[in-house]
Amino acid sequence: MSIKKDALHNAQQLLFQAFRDADHQLPERLLILEDPTGYLARQAHQLFPNAKIDLYLKDFRRYLALSQHFANNSQVTVHPSVLPNAHEQYDAALLTVPKGRYFTRKLFTVIKRALKPNTPLYLVGQTQLGAKSIIKDATQFLGSGETTIIKKHCRVGTCYKSDQTKQTRWQNDPGLILDSYHTYDLSSTDTTVSHRTLPGIFSWEHLDNGSAMLLDHLSSELVQGKTVWDVGCGSGILGLASAQLGAKHVYLSDIDLLALSCTWENASTQSLQDRISIGAADAAMSFYPATCDAHNPYPQLQFDLQNPINPESIDLMITNPPYHQGHEQNITMMQRLLESARPHLAKDGQLLIVANTFLPYAKMLKHAGYDAQVLHRTNTFSIHQAQIN
Ligand SMILES: C[S@@+](CC[C@H](N)C(=O)[O-])C[C@H]1O[C@@H](n2cnc3c(N)ncnc32)[C@H](O)[C@@H]1O
Repeated sequence: MSIKKDALHNAQQLLFQAFRDADHQLPERLLILEDPTGYLARQAHQLFPNAKIDLYLKDFRRYLALSQHFANNSQVTVHPSVLPNAHEQYDAALLTVPKGRYFTRKLFTVIKRALKPNTPLYLVGQTQLGAKSIIKDATQFLGSGETTIIKKHCRVGTCYKSDQTKQTRWQNDPGLILDSYHTYDLSSTDTTVSHRTLPGIFSWEHLDNGSAMLLDHLSSELVQGKTVWDVGCGSGILGLASAQLGAKHVYLSDIDLLALSCTWENASTQSLQDRISIGAADAAMSFYPATCDAHNPYPQLQFDLQNPINPESIDLMITNPPYHQGHEQNITMMQRLLESARPHLAKDGQLLIVANTFLPYAKMLKHAGYDAQVLHRTNTFSIHQAQIN
């Protein structure tokens, strides 16, 4: 997010202060986006106990925790979805600005549609991480607004949806236009597929070079008849390619709810649903299978939170693991993956990992008890292949 973890609480307190102190009528419906701890939803519920509050989050782990937290609260609904599809329903929206300028802009587009005319969006970001220009973006796009608090290295903006909007440079970009996708072509020897993504997903504008290198290592010989798990699948590139190449079954998982919705979309445009399972999983831990309720217009996924599954007899686990969390380098997902992968792997099951060459993955694999080798190395990326020894 455009707020570092240690500054989040201060930032959200300031955001809530701006909302609480504003001179507005009793809201009937509130929209809250990217409130990772549920702080804003709790405060808003205390202040306006009769208001209906809808909370949208990107991280499945947050969704899981907060849907349990608010399970007995009929006023607060936590959605397993990132982009609300509401039309002029809300009296106010509160946004903790997430990481990614384009993702934030995407949120502005759905927030604008969701707000009633002349109602406010309150947003907070960290000054050092570009809050000033983000508030400017929101002001231009919604119609009016200003920075209302500058304190504790944060800025709070209050913007109103009005008719005075100026055309922004970005609002007609593919992926940012309401209900659209960004697309790029993925070509293999005999097919080209038009791959759909959205701002906010890893490498949404083009195929990542690391993913491309791993794609080159996937072949019919490698995956034919195999059970494959694409861990951290993003928009589904690696897992769906494995299904195209003849894998018997492919699991695709991520903790990013927007990524999972795009994966669903790509699987349905490629008619691959009968050979794949899409779900939410933290590294290779419990896999919460998704179903799709509706396309309106993006796939609206639901997760069976009571019955996670443990994919078994995985012949091939493929991954391009993240090495950042927010703004910090963080390889804990890889560490957790190496621990959590073991019980799922078939006897001769293998891991195929692409990673930046400077990352210490060969060492980590060895420490975690894998036989590992580097199949291919460039200055930038390496492909590691590993088996349990
Ligand atoms: C480098 S991207 C690769 C995406 C996709 N496989 C590709 O090649 O385009 C890493 C992905 O891991 C996901 N991710 C991050 N932390 C995760 C975690 N703890 N468990 C599962 N997935 C995670 C991110 O949301 C992101 O989609």
